[in-house]
Amino acid sequence: MLNIRYELTKTKKEKPDYSKLGFGKYFTDHMFLMDYTQGKGWHDARIVPYGPLCLDPSCAVFHYAQEMFEGLKAYKTASGEVQLFRPDKNIERMNRTNERMCIPHVDPDDALQAIKAIVKTDIDWVPNEEGKSLYIRPFIIATDCQLGVHPSHSYLFVIILSPVGAYYESGIDPVKIYIEREYVRAVKGGTGFAKVGGNYASSLKGQEKAEKLGYAQVLWLDGLHRKYVDEVGAMNVFFIIDGEVVTPALDEGSILPGVTRASAIELMRSWGMKVSERLLSVDEITEAAASGKLDEAFGTGTAAVISPIGELNDNGNKIVINGGKIGKVSKRLYDTLTSIQWGKAPDEFGWTTKV
Ligand code: COI
Repeated sequence: MLNIRYELTKTKKEKPDYSKLGFGKYFTDHMFLMDYTQGKGWHDARIVPYGPLCLDPSCAVFHYAQEMFEGLKAYKTASGEVQLFRPDKNIERMNRTNERMCIPHVDPDDALQAIKAIVKTDIDWVPNEEGKSLYIRPFIIATDCQLGVHPSHSYLFVIILSPVGAYYESGIDPVKIYIEREYVRAVKGGTGFAKVGGNYASSLKGQEKAEKLGYAQVLWLDGLHRKYVDEVGAMNVFFIIDGEVVTPALDEGSILPGVTRASAIELMRSWGMKVSERLLSVDEITEAAASGKLDEAFGTGTAAVISPIGELNDNGNKIVINGGKIGKVSKRLYDTLTSIQWGKAPDEFGWTTKV
């Protein structure tokens, strides 16, 4: 159990206009910090006013990117309570990422206590509005001051909070996705399954290209054969082909094991749908589209929730999915998940945790 020290702000910020939140633009009054020192472990848990971190320019994180992050959300229910969605899953993933990045594990109970404590401190920032939530961004950075390429001996664990609306400007309207054939995101043995900034930094070049062409995001293909679907960077992807729901399997280690991905799979299986986690090539998608068997496609993610895909562009070959409209399964998944998250539907799976 953490002994958290509180140093609360005397000057609370003015709240932004909650009707124009967008994603990750505003931050609350406080942040959680905790240090790690070799030999001492994690220590000095504290909640302090939100503000800049003072770090030495030689800090390992700036040079070799030894860091990790997570993303989860807090939701306000109709009765005014605040709840988290499957925080245990994010904490498990956090420690799997830490393992890959040579970052020390955080005790899962301490991590949950820290998340709840910072959300409780800034509870007045949790939006009441439909479709809006408080995004929670825990991250850990390596803080040793030295330029040798070695795992750091000291770290800083930070949690910041941001009231958010939809990740995509289009909201629940279908997004257009560009299939990236030049760059790759991850390869077997790399860090594709881990939630690390480097995966996102190396995705920016492809993302920039896609945005210039009017596409919201990039669909990444496997790094070896360059033909199988991996993920969309900010989302995992699902295709419904002739009634079978297909999503890339996690076993190559190049895909982020999304919490929303796992929840969508469980929901669809509970509805009696056939969900396969397997290899899925772009050729199979193209052929399914040509023969009228590509029923739907959608992405899943904490930030993106369920985001229908209305068009894919493969080297100029445009594949329009479900007439560019939201499909039945995407809509049902969005409605069911968000109803559980906002406490409007019974939580039959035991996915929510009160703050
Ligand atoms: C999330 O869905 O929480 C993510 O981390 C995706 C992203 C905004 C990088």
